[in-house]
Amino acid sequence: MSRAHAIVFGASSGIGRATVMALKERGHVVAGLARRPSDVADASFACDVTDDASVGAAVAGAQQAHGPPDVMVYAAGVGAMGRTLDVPASAAREVFEVNFWGMDRAVRAVLPGMMERRRGAVVLVSSIAALRPIPHEAFYAASKAAAARYFGCLAFEAASAGVRVQMLHVGFIDTGFAERAGWFGMAAPAHPASSKTAGDVGVAVCALLDAGAPSAVLGWRERAIALGDRVVPNLYDRWITFRGRRR
Ligand SMILES: NC(=O)c1ccc[n+]([C@@H]2O[C@H](COP(=O)([O-])OP(=O)(O)OC[C@H]3O[C@@H](n4cnc5c(N)ncnc54)[C@H](OP(=O)(O)O)[C@@H]3O)[C@@H](O)[C@H]2O)c1
Repeated sequence: MSRAHAIVFGASSGIGRATVMALKERGHVVAGLARRPSDVADASFACDVTDDASVGAAVAGAQQAHGPPDVMVYAAGVGAMGRTLDVPASAAREVFEVNFWGMDRAVRAVLPGMMERRRGAVVLVSSIAALRPIPHEAFYAASKAAAARYFGCLAFEAASAGVRVQMLHVGFIDTGFAERAGWFGMAAPAHPASSKTAGDVGVAVCALLDAGAPSAVLGWRERAIALGDRVVPNLYDRWITFRGRRR
């Protein structure tokens, strides 16, 4: 992709921040949107994705600064983890408000202009939890699965207007996201060391934009799980259940 104006939601930390850096390294001009400022974007705009007016104002600000966006990356996200019935409804709703409805707000603010200009790409930073159940992540996984299905449906409509709608499914990345997520009814478990970093995700987002594929899974382990679920359904579920019983 030639020099583009990219808007990144969730640019203040972790994967979003790393994606800003990767896009800039490729020569793109990048606007970073989040409630906290982005210290790496070319321009930073305060944005709460749970608020229509805030999303509209931030996208308008980015557009004023650098022109209409060619790329939008949605990396804003929160989690409410733990024993499903111990997660308060308010925390569960907050997860959907950011991970699903915030994504919808961002799409509504950016996609119509792209479709009118018949160019652009929208990328969702998705999770392996969108593809399969993960213990103690019911609301997070449900929000990610809902967002992924929304993106899959939207991709057909956008394609007919010359716009790509793409997803990158990512496994555990040590950004502090899991620790920041609320844990209910249990302590946060120790996560195994991840072979991938936030920087790897940023590079993978750029590669996905170049490839133009509808979706990709980052990491050999995550690809093996996704493939295994198709070839031998429930095998990994049985392994998780077996492991859980031994603990
Ligand atoms: N880390 C992982 O293991 C992992 C794995 C798969 C997928 N993901 C996904 O990757 C994305 C980024 O996660 P991360 O690991 O980079 O976590 P992170 O460092 O906590 O980043 C989350 C980002 O979301 C933004 N955000 C949260 N609530 C927001 C709101 N109401 N309005 C605007 N922005 C908001 C935060 O910015 P402010 O707080 O400044 O608003 C921050 O920039 C999330 O969608 C997550 O689900 C993460």
